[in-house]
Amino acid sequence: MAKEEIFKKIISHAKEYGFIFQSSEIYDGLSAVYDYGQNGVELKKNIKKYWWDSMVLLHENIVGIDSAIFMHPTVWKASGHVGAFNDPLIDNKDSKKRYRADVLIEDFREKIQTKINKEITKAKKRFGEAFNLDEFVSTNRRVLDNQNKIDKLNERFTKALEDNNLDDIKQIIVDNKIACPVSGSRNWTDVRQFNLMFDTKLGSVSEDANTIYLRPETAQGIFVNYLNVQKTGRMKIPFGIAQIGKAFRNEIVARQFIFRMREFEQMEMQFFVKPGDEMKWFEFWKNTRLNWHRALGLTEDQIRTHKHQKLAHYANAAIDIEFDFPIGFKELEGIHSRTDFDLEQHQKFSGKKIQYYDNETKSSYTPYVIETSIGLDRMFFAILSNSFEEEIIEKENGVKDKRVVLKIPPSLAPVKAAILPLIRKDGLPEKARVIFNSLKYDFNCQYDEKDSIGKRYRRHDAIGTPFCVTIDHQTLEDNSVTLRYRDSMEQERVKIHKLNYMVNGLADMKKLLKKL
Ligand code: GAP
Repeated sequence: MAKEEIFKKIISHAKEYGFIFQSSEIYDGLSAVYDYGQNGVELKKNIKKYWWDSMVLLHENIVGIDSAIFMHPTVWKASGHVGAFNDPLIDNKDSKKRYRADVLIEDFREKIQTKINKEITKAKKRFGEAFNLDEFVSTNRRVLDNQNKIDKLNERFTKALEDNNLDDIKQIIVDNKIACPVSGSRNWTDVRQFNLMFDTKLGSVSEDANTIYLRPETAQGIFVNYLNVQKTGRMKIPFGIAQIGKAFRNEIVARQFIFRMREFEQMEMQFFVKPGDEMKWFEFWKNTRLNWHRALGLTEDQIRTHKHQKLAHYANAAIDIEFDFPIGFKELEGIHSRTDFDLEQHQKFSGKKIQYYDNETKSSYTPYVIETSIGLDRMFFAILSNSFEEEIIEKENGVKDKRVVLKIPPSLAPVKAAILPLIRKDGLPEKARVIFNSLKYDFNCQYDEKDSIGKRYRRHDAIGTPFCVTIDHQTLEDNSVTLRYRDSMEQERVKIHKLNYMVNGLADMKKLLKKL
């Protein structure tokens, strides 16, 4: 199935099964703003728990905070966001659509990369066991030509970004004949900078009110609380502060479902280290975070790392962890070595000393910071697209049927077990309720007696419920139920008292955390 088709299917599935709704839909929606429905909120909550526990429970030197969205406006001057949190935008004069100029160029580069990947796939098929990747990419003419194009493009693009040369960014688009995806034309405006922060007023009388910003990242809430946490928690370097919370950006490109939103959530951790140790910790956190993704079953061909060509104003090293979304390989998480930039800036702007006193060396210094920053909504999208499957299955009578199943890792599934009386009489619903009431304290269960058992199984496949528990007449005789597994659709007879153990055995969050 083409990726575009999968993308559309995922969006409509997410709506149909209560995962994601367009915000204010009855008023025709609000662009790039989404609401999470009854199943979406559970999945989101479980992703948060997996992240939070992996940081705060598993590391004795990491603690969490929850800082306010509104912050003193000087915070954003100090952080550089007022002056430099810009995206280069360009308009197509025919379609009147607005784009991020850098994204147009990156997408163009990705198309060339796709051509290389296709050549490699073809050659792999042709040569089978004898295929040697290194030899192929260093000798095949088409691959070499395309790689050369990418290298040249990268060099020019990086320089243009570094020099903030908007004219050359436009010229790259013109020279490479990049066309508007909507109109197909190359009738572009000049490139302009656009600040992404939303502002609002604090105070009741508008003339006296201060302009404040909706935070564009949660990280600054951690930096300005560094001293509070370090002192009250008697934290010793190296240590980390984790936070999950909303962030807001007035994104120019807003046509990518929950990939790029104007209101979204971040899960960020700032790890404070001794200056000079930052590269060691950068490597540590890169590997730790990659393992976190791998534990969810994301494979090497679905995630890759991308080293930043142009470093942000605060960083001395940065990589993105990219995921192969239905819209292509895109950034899922960033790992940044932020140096002492943020703490130094806040010292400068606030006039307060923000340092660490090292008891061993009897001296003070401003710590360096390694940041791990992942978008919760992007992670949600990655899980959804990785777990979405359409299967053709053959029924016992030989008839072929289609089932749509979300193979969400059981620990993250919104509902862990569906409790299903086979029919709505003979005391089966009552018995099912007793089972539901005994399990509901341990994990999220759903009682469901409407429609045939087959339809109910499909409904739960579609929301990713890993277990269906069916109560039938035999249950009344011997306290056994049918346990159906979502992925294999296999069924087995188990005793009621074993249900808790069996479901938790697969779906408990511990299962995931122990893989780390
Ligand atoms: N504190 C560093 C920081 O904010 P970033 O690369 O701008 O770095 C971090 O953002 C992560 O936040 C990204 O990797 C992405 O997952 C997520 N993110 C950024 N902008 C987003 C948006 N408009 N919608 C959804 N997620 C976004």
